[in-house]
Amino acid sequence: MTLTAQTIADPEFWRQPLANRMAEFAVLREQGPFLRVTVADPLTMTDEDFFAVTRYAEVVEISKRPADFCSGRGSTAVADLPTEAMEFFGSFIVMDDPRHARQRGIVARSFTPRQLAGVLDSVERVCTEVVDGICETGQVDLVEAVSQPFPLLIICDMMGIPRSEFTTVLNATNVILGAGDPEMVGTDNPEEILGALIGAGMELANLMNDLAEDRRKNPTDDLTSALVHNTLGEDVLAPDELAPFFILLAVAGNDTTRTGISHGMNLLAQNPGERAKWQADIEGTTPKAVEEIVRAASPVTFMRRTATRALSLSGHDFDEGDKVVLFYGAANRDPRVFDDPETFNISRDPNPHVGFGGPGPHFCLGAHLARRELSVMFRQLLTRLPDIEVVGDPVPLQALGIPLVGGIKHLPVRFTPTAPVGR
Ligand code: HEM
Repeated sequence: MTLTAQTIADPEFWRQPLANRMAEFAVLREQGPFLRVTVADPLTMTDEDFFAVTRYAEVVEISKRPADFCSGRGSTAVADLPTEAMEFFGSFIVMDDPRHARQRGIVARSFTPRQLAGVLDSVERVCTEVVDGICETGQVDLVEAVSQPFPLLIICDMMGIPRSEFTTVLNATNVILGAGDPEMVGTDNPEEILGALIGAGMELANLMNDLAEDRRKNPTDDLTSALVHNTLGEDVLAPDELAPFFILLAVAGNDTTRTGISHGMNLLAQNPGERAKWQADIEGTTPKAVEEIVRAASPVTFMRRTATRALSLSGHDFDEGDKVVLFYGAANRDPRVFDDPETFNISRDPNPHVGFGGPGPHFCLGAHLARRELSVMFRQLLTRLPDIEVVGDPVPLQALGIPLVGGIKHLPVRFTPTAPVGR
């Protein structure tokens, strides 16, 4: 039977191992730059039509043209959702300029390498803490014990969320991105899922609002204080803009890196030669190896754009309102750009992947931090637990519809126990 793009709409497609999915995307990519798909949205219960974009050139071109292909009608879901709900969960990732530029600009002041210096230093400390927590055990679920807590601890520290609230934040983010997985939400009933999603969003918003209230009176050197304080006459986030930003950060900066670590470890298990190369020269190899993990794993599965007018691109005529869904993983294996694209090559150079998004206003704000997190974690795992090995199949997170982040929820690993170093 001929493979058609409609396969992307099938939840079973997304439960396959990464390599199988990518093999099917390789077939679809050659069928044309824009492939029509209809997907039944599990929450709105409506059929949604979109064009799947699987080639690199078109993903880049669409990302570069926000006036023609906007994010403001929805970017994190295929379905159109009520604007209020969408912005509550998405903040400025679902906005266009000038609102996007204003809010991103405020936050970006705190995301420059200089401003992030303290956070970047904390990455090493938090990583040591997480690896110390498992190193004597000899066997863990890498996702639960390492990939999951690590990036979220960093975000919580960065925002000034106390450690006592860590589990609340973790559970809420698990509900938001694992909404299709009964293990995360405790139900597969769409109405109950909707309730759980709203509850999780409210929990994060309340936590952030209380913290912001405190920081307005007692500023510290955390990001929350920087976002609510106007010391130099600069614009700050309004109270109702802060909680959505925190939800965006907790989701965009957490599950993505978590997925990068989990897939990265699995890719190393599948490619022992590449792993040996990395372990033979950790310092020299890490920057390129990390880029290759982001390319090969492409933790963010897709982002959506909507045509703002009738226009033509690559020989296709779009109508105003047509939806395009950018599949980053497929673009990152486009043989028109990447030599031997299905090979995991930790020395790949050049590696112009779009794993952090295409060039344009929404390019990942946390790319610098994410690169540091992945570098530090793999350096510690490969040096402190040098024989760490995957001892079971990765269990994919079940998404609601097409997953935004192609997560792994369990990955058993084993290693020779060793002593902690941080105490
Ligand atoms: C491996 C890890 C990561 C990957 C693969 C990733 C990927 C992406 C992608 C593909 C986008 C583009 C959205 C679009 O074009 O519509 C994005 C945006 C964003 N990312 Fe990341 N990300 C990662 C880590 C992080 C981290 C650690 C943070 C912050 C702590 C972060 C914060 C953001 C924010 C705030 C945006 C929205 C930017 C905007 O709309 O202007 N990300 N990310």
